[in-house]
Amino acid sequence: MAKLKLAIVVGSNRRESINRKLAQALAKLGEGAFESSFVQIDDLPMFNQDLEPNRPEPTLRLKREIEAADAILIVTPEHNRAIPAVLKNAIDWASRPYGKSSWAGKVVAVTGTSGGAVGTAAAQQELRMIMTNLAGVVVGSQVFINYKDGMFDAEHNVTDETTHAFLKGFLDNVAKIAGRFAA
Ligand SMILES: Cc1cc2nc3c(=O)[nH]c(=O)nc-3n(C[C@H](O)[C@H](O)[C@H](O)COP(=O)(O)O)c2cc1C
Repeated sequence: MAKLKLAIVVGSNRRESINRKLAQALAKLGEGAFESSFVQIDDLPMFNQDLEPNRPEPTLRLKREIEAADAILIVTPEHNRAIPAVLKNAIDWASRPYGKSSWAGKVVAVTGTSGGAVGTAAAQQELRMIMTNLAGVVVGSQVFINYKDGMFDAEHNVTDETTHAFLKGFLDNVAKIAGRFAA
């Protein structure tokens, strides 16, 4: 069976992003089921309706990549109990023009990591609400990862067995749902 196309969006523009590390580990863990690609969002201009008549190329690239995917995996930090501005900016660009949202009917899975005890739970809830409002098909999962140094090695492997099994289960579920929609 052909692999499912998974577009991964990391909601951070930080060079040493721990969410990018988690995303890279998920891309590796999911290699059996998915052909993964990373969606760049840090070069998008700040959304402004005035730019819409002549949309900048990175915003068109974003829509093409979302639309080509069988499923989207968003790995997001939490900023002040909400999603980071860089992620909201990308979501807004891909939701336009009105009536032609790239998110509609897309299978969207959500996770994220932070050093805090309730790592990204509030941001993920907000993100699920936004994606539901945009008519995405949100995978129902609760994957809040409390980041610890050494959790991922230099080859993007998950070092801890329990976390490995937990994340594998999450991806298996995403593959099951995305596979059904792709069929
Ligand atoms: C403006 C700002 C607000 C933050 N707010 C939260 C928060 O609400 N909850 C949380 O768990 N961590 C919060 N943090 C800490 C982030 O979890 C931490 O910076 C993390 O490394 C961000 O993920 P990244 O490395 O992938 O960018 C915040 C960080 C910043 C810069």
